[in-house]
Amino acid sequence: MAEIQPLVAGNWKMNGTTGALGELDALHQQLLDKGSGVNADVMICPPATLVSAAVARCQDGPLAIGGQDCHANPSGAHTGDISAEMLRDAGATAVIVGHSERRTDHGEASGDVHAKAEAAWRAGLVAIVCVGETETERRANQTLKVIAGQIAGSVPASATAENTVVAYEPVWAIGTGLTPTTDDVAEVHAAIRSQLAEMLPDGEGAKVRILYGGSVKPANAGELMAVPHVNGALVGGASLKADDFLGIIAAYRTA
Ligand code: PGA
Repeated sequence: MAEIQPLVAGNWKMNGTTGALGELDALHQQLLDKGSGVNADVMICPPATLVSAAVARCQDGPLAIGGQDCHANPSGAHTGDISAEMLRDAGATAVIVGHSERRTDHGEASGDVHAKAEAAWRAGLVAIVCVGETETERRANQTLKVIAGQIAGSVPASATAENTVVAYEPVWAIGTGLTPTTDDVAEVHAAIRSQLAEMLPDGEGAKVRILYGGSVKPANAGELMAVPHVNGALVGGASLKADDFLGIIAAYRTA
């Protein structure tokens, strides 16, 4: 199996004003101090208003900064939206697309997410494409079918391990403190891995990082990150405090 460099990404969602940059500084400092002992890439996706400031504070350090969403177009009459090019201009290196909160709050369908992933690449950003089933879908034994449909619809066929990350986030596990069993996580991640391997040419599907997200905490990160085909985490609530996030990154500590 290909060696895959894990990624632990924090999604601050609609949380944080400039005062929150103190947590970013604390995280950054800890990574600088212990960086060589962490076998994972680390990223924070703050609100768009903080991207520039976050980038300025993490210059040349090990902490990457990403956006939480982008419009599919590079510019135009789309009041309130932000393009991938704007995020790139602000210094972001990645953007989350298709988070379930976007799919629910803004009615985004997989076709929209597909277009946003391509927009991310156009701007030189890595697209972090999110998929996940609802509680009703899981109860109805539809999980694998729903995820397969979302992957087929949201991940462009020209995705590579360099420009794309997939995040599996069961909707019912987000912000609830609930997590699937490690067997359930293993089943979904293995299914995503096989689908990507079939969909993407040149062996890229074997190398794309597949993150798990949904109530990842320091206490469960070790067991979740040890599941086969889990190549890191997408973390919401526990990324807001440097100590909690560091407790999750500790799953990848080598020293
Ligand atoms: P959570 O959110 O860690 O707060 O459950 C995860 C996410 O939505 O990315």
